[in-house]
Amino acid sequence: MLTVESTANTGRQYLPENPETLSPNQSLMPLTATVNDQDHLVVGGCDVVELVEKYGSPLYILDEHTLRTTCRQYRESLQKYYSGESLAIYASKAWSCMAICAIVDSEGLGFDVVSGGEIYTTLQAGISPTKIYFHGNNKSREELNFALDSGVTIIVDNFLELEMLAEITGDRQATANIILRLTPGIECHTHEYIRTGHLDSKFGFDPNQIEETFTLVGRHDYLNCIGLHAHIGSQIFEQQPHKDLGDVLAGWLKKAGEYGLNLEILNLGGGLGIRYTESDDPPSIEAWCRNVAESLEAACLKYGVGLPKLIVEPGRSLVGTACITAYTVGSRKVVPEIRTYVSVDGGMSDNPRPITYQSLYRSVVANRMSDECNETVTVAGKHCESGDVVIKDARLPTPQPGDILVVLDTGAYNYSMASNYNRIGRPAAVLVNEGEAQVIIRRETYDDLVRQDCLPERLRQI
Ligand code: LLP
Repeated sequence: MLTVESTANTGRQYLPENPETLSPNQSLMPLTATVNDQDHLVVGGCDVVELVEKYGSPLYILDEHTLRTTCRQYRESLQKYYSGESLAIYASKAWSCMAICAIVDSEGLGFDVVSGGEIYTTLQAGISPTKIYFHGNNKSREELNFALDSGVTIIVDNFLELEMLAEITGDRQATANIILRLTPGIECHTHEYIRTGHLDSKFGFDPNQIEETFTLVGRHDYLNCIGLHAHIGSQIFEQQPHKDLGDVLAGWLKKAGEYGLNLEILNLGGGLGIRYTESDDPPSIEAWCRNVAESLEAACLKYGVGLPKLIVEPGRSLVGTACITAYTVGSRKVVPEIRTYVSVDGGMSDNPRPITYQSLYRSVVANRMSDECNETVTVAGKHCESGDVVIKDARLPTPQPGDILVVLDTGAYNYSMASNYNRIGRPAAVLVNEGEAQVIIRRETYDDLVRQDCLPERLRQI
């Protein structure tokens, strides 16, 4: 039995201490993470080293229990703290694939989608269109037609879209349910690229044009406006911005009533942060839902409006912690007195977040979980780009070629933002649960990489 002191400087330090009660977004590892007799990391009852042997490397490993727990915590917390009707919808941009959609659906959540491709993925997974909400600041006519054919709710972002929808629904003589996205003008402290609620944002109607927006909507016979939406940003740890948002939206709900729009829904977006490193300190899912619910109720009371149906749309906090990425360690380069590079067999093509947002991650050596972290190394990817660094200054037990290096908390915005840079195929993803593993996304092959290429006859050499 290892003592607390002896695990403090090993990969074991990141294991969840009280997985039964923990809010997944506050854990550094999936809730089922343990270590077995061989000193290997185990997730969902599966030995991570064996998973890599069987399914190859790099490998995304998604823990079903953590994902389901997160969904339940959202659903139950909203029910507990909000007296009106409520619904959590998964912002599937965080990771859209059929298996995740099916799991999230079976837990009773709905879906936020942002493209024809995301609509298609959810429909292919068997999701009812009544649970799908279609976002986007520049939806194409084709996408709008697809959305209307499918019967999903459209979250209208701007005047052009409003006009286009009025025209299309008029031609079809069929009513569409819409929700209006407004820019709330609320600042929050997160990376500049993932802030969306401040006024200088490409998303949503400007609140200075709210009267014009409400008037226009009221004029179109085939547009049935059922609610308002606002989203203020992502990876947020503070609670005040969502408290303010509840107030702003309830005020607009009242105003909409003055324009003859009787709205049933307020959607307060997503944004709850997760713990990527020890210093990240997000509120729990329950505390976040409580804050959103209570502040909205208070605001509705203040403005004298009835309680709308409350929708929230988490992405990162729903899938982020449930997944880890396993890589195989390869070459090492020591730059004396400057840095030691340890390269892995993936990098910016399977996780573009470090190079895009300077995001920080923690990692462990999955085949030596109890070895002391005695070295500081920079974990580099294998792409032809100097900035392709997975983790700068990672503390690890001297990584050796063939070690399985696992990066934690890679469920959100990793696969969904993955690319084929350098013609590297996207890794496979396996779903693990109670000792069983199933492939949910196949690894891309060389054939997959040239599948869309066309070689005109006159250029053919062979
Ligand atoms: N709703 C709307 C309208 C959104 O734009 C987003 C995220 C969400 C919900 C979900 O937010 P979340 O709960 O995941 O914070 N690629 C960036 C994150 C971009 C977020 C985009 N919108 C990253 O890797 O950090």
